[in-house]
Amino acid sequence: MYWEIDENDLRKFEEWKKLPVLYQLALDELQNKIKLIQTEWKIENGYSPIEHIKTRIKEPKSIINKLQRKGYDITVDNIVNKIHDIAGMRIVFSFVQDIYSLLEHLKQREDITILEIKDYIEHPKPNGYQSLHLIVAVPLTLLEGQRWMKVEIQMRTLAMDFWASMEHILYYKYEKQVPYHVVEELTEAAKAADALDKKMCGLRKEIMGSSISDPD
Ligand code: GTP
Ligand code: MG
Repeated sequence: MYWEIDENDLRKFEEWKKLPVLYQLALDELQNKIKLIQTEWKIENGYSPIEHIKTRIKEPKSIINKLQRKGYDITVDNIVNKIHDIAGMRIVFSFVQDIYSLLEHLKQREDITILEIKDYIEHPKPNGYQSLHLIVAVPLTLLEGQRWMKVEIQMRTLAMDFWASMEHILYYKYEKQVPYHVVEELTEAAKAADALDKKMCGLRKEIMGSSISDPD
């Protein structure tokens, strides 16, 4: 007895297998571009605007859950076209202003296409969550030709990242029903993080000169 594998199924399987590799390559390409900007910025301004960069590829289980949640069939086409955060990059900055400077720079580039901007810094979520979210596409030059891959970029300050990490632990990791007063206190804490960012922006302005514009 032997297994008969349909040609079509085999092609689909090959595509499925290739996806994480392509998304990882897209993350590597993007990370290199950001690192280059970071180096140039350091030479020009004397400091690095970026504290750290983290990347991740969404687990197959999470991809399937998300497709099901959104009511889509589990196909390679739906993964590629309907899920925008298979490749994720988080860039953590010292100062809010630098997030917007990087955004302006990214808008100018021809090797990065911005597909979507969600500004949760200007418009925080009701719980106080702040970050600037982008969906971008970066080109990969493959044997088959050029292929643009989507990456979700989350840009936030150290204070925003600290708050989001704590909130994530409380909500997701322990899967607890968070009591109302905790929700309220978390929102208060988000305001404190925002105040800290504004304070640092003010101090930076004083030290580095008034040529730097305010984020508000
Ligand atoms: P999805 O279909 O889940 O992608 O919804 P969306 O595209 O509307 O999500 P959104 O862009 O608002 O957020 C995407 C990601 O941002 C999440 O997967 C989290 O990593 C992060 N995020 C959004 N809101 C919160 C929040 O309230 N707390 C924390 N800790 N992270 C958040
Ligand atoms: Mg999303």
